[in-house]
Amino acid sequence: MKIFVDTAKLDEIKEACSWGIVDGVTTNPSLIKRAVDTLKERGEKIDMAAYIKEICRTAGESRPVSLEVISLTWEKMIKEAHILYEKFNPVAGNVVIKIPINTFTQGCSHTNYEGLKAIKKLSQDGIPVNCTLIMTPEQALLAAKAGAKYASPFAGRVDDYIRKNLGINFSKGDYFDYELMEEIRYQALEESLEDWINEEEEVDRIYQQEEVKKWANLGKDNGISSGVELVAEIVHIYHNYGIKTEIIASSMRNARQVREVAQVGTHIATIPFSVIEEMMQHPKTEEGIKLFTRDVVPEYKEIFEK
Ligand code: E4P
Repeated sequence: MKIFVDTAKLDEIKEACSWGIVDGVTTNPSLIKRAVDTLKERGEKIDMAAYIKEICRTAGESRPVSLEVISLTWEKMIKEAHILYEKFNPVAGNVVIKIPINTFTQGCSHTNYEGLKAIKKLSQDGIPVNCTLIMTPEQALLAAKAGAKYASPFAGRVDDYIRKNLGINFSKGDYFDYELMEEIRYQALEESLEDWINEEEEVDRIYQQEEVKKWANLGKDNGISSGVELVAEIVHIYHNYGIKTEIIASSMRNARQVREVAQVGTHIATIPFSVIEEMMQHPKTEEGIKLFTRDVVPEYKEIFEK
């Protein structure tokens, strides 16, 4: 699995690239805002174009850097994609353009299909596209059909959505335990079914009971039980049809979620700096290093001092 670093902070990109485990960089307007806010807090002046060029240079030619458009119609997105590509790709030949799968919002005048149209045109123009804001396997299938080089399912945001719908309080980095959720769903469903089955109701009547349906779908977003499951479904569908689009598991919230998207076979995970750090940690590793350091005998130490 390739690892991308999910940040627009130059110092984080430099540091993470120096570790030798980073294969690419993803940004979005919110990540750019966070980087700019940090620079402002430090009282530093911002030359945005020079800053992005430095990101591309730091990543270097072997690591793709995703830069996102900001408009919502396909004509404008294509224009912006060309601006980004022509300005920044010459630096290291590594720019990928991020296009949302769907830019429609209630009350706007454009359609659901602006993203797809932009992806199609840019792919025809030879500009690599990372299709972003994917929340369903269907969207991922359409992104691939339109020609996206990368598809980014937002695993963490799907988990957030499911938890919010269930009224669960959580912090951003909290692990979403979908196995526990499955267990709760199963138990609740079993209890609700028991009465109906004891009364020897017809399957048709049981199947149509609202309460039964509610428990069967507890904690699911249209059949998707978690962000990891979303990634797994996309892996499965792409595999079925030999689709070459690479999946970037995005919106990673914690190390265990990274482990799980790796288990289900994502091609890439784009991971915040802090989560990469979390992936390195275990109390027994820390304890072990303390013990090894304590146990160094002078005879052994001497070897390194000669
Ligand atoms: C990456 O491409 C995405 O923009 C990013 O992972 C979103 O993460 P978030 O849901 O934590 O904002």
